[in-house]
Amino acid sequence: MLKVRNAWIEADGKKILKGVNLEVGKGEVHVIFGPNGSGKSTLLAAIMGLPSYKITDGEIIFKGRDIKNEPIWKRAKMGIGIAFQSPPEINLKMNKLLENLDGNIEKYAKELRMEEYIDRDINKGFSGGERKRSEILQIAIQQPDLLLLDEPESGVDMENIYIISKVINELLEKNKRIVERKRSAVIITHTGYILDFIDANLAHVMMDGKIICKGPPRDVLETIKKYGYEKCSACAEGD
Ligand SMILES: Nc1ncnc2c1ncn2[C@@H]1O[C@H](COP(=O)(O)OP(=O)(O)O)[C@@H](O)[C@H]1O
Ligand SMILES: [Mg+2]
Repeated sequence: MLKVRNAWIEADGKKILKGVNLEVGKGEVHVIFGPNGSGKSTLLAAIMGLPSYKITDGEIIFKGRDIKNEPIWKRAKMGIGIAFQSPPEINLKMNKLLENLDGNIEKYAKELRMEEYIDRDINKGFSGGERKRSEILQIAIQQPDLLLLDEPESGVDMENIYIISKVINELLEKNKRIVERKRSAVIITHTGYILDFIDANLAHVMMDGKIICKGPPRDVLETIKKYGYEKCSACAEGD
């Protein structure tokens, strides 16, 4: 599904990612841990093709094609979707945006308890948790093959984490065997909370623009909780 090879990314003349590798197979879910400012959101932005993020070296291969020079809309058409960490307010009614997409608006708006929001401008006056549900609603209706989810659980209360996870699991066809699943996901999580609700295959730890370690999500989370990210960098140096 996705192969990021030795990606060097900069924004505003600042080197942010310094040779990132990430490979996500069809049907797989990967999580990315890492301290604030380590470059996690930048990685998702670069995969999606947000214009301020320039790839200066390396490749981003999606479904076998190098997409690094493709504009954001083309990547979206090819099947990449993103749910932002801090989604902006947009002067456009949510249902105006959603009616151009294929997914079932009624079903997902109901599941996400967003029915009364779809007649409103996107994210305008929404609370943090409502914005997160609004992002999940949009990506659910876009139905991309690769879901890029940037801290979907941050600022969301317990009950709503359950609700959004249920929709994400449904999109990822978690009820099917992995070989039958069509979609993949890369989920950034600061707290690891989401792992209580969504099963992930592999975790990566990003520090200072590099992925320094990977392993089973629960083990990686336990290590970070116990020893902090310092241990991850020590481990990466072979300690
Ligand atoms: N558009 C941008 N222009 C300049 N610097 C940026 C931009 N986006 C991110 N950065 C910087 O890159 C670093 C990584 O940011 P980010 O990817 O948001 O980290 P994370 O998501 O891991 O917290 C930070 O120091 C941030 O200030
Ligand atoms: Mg971030």
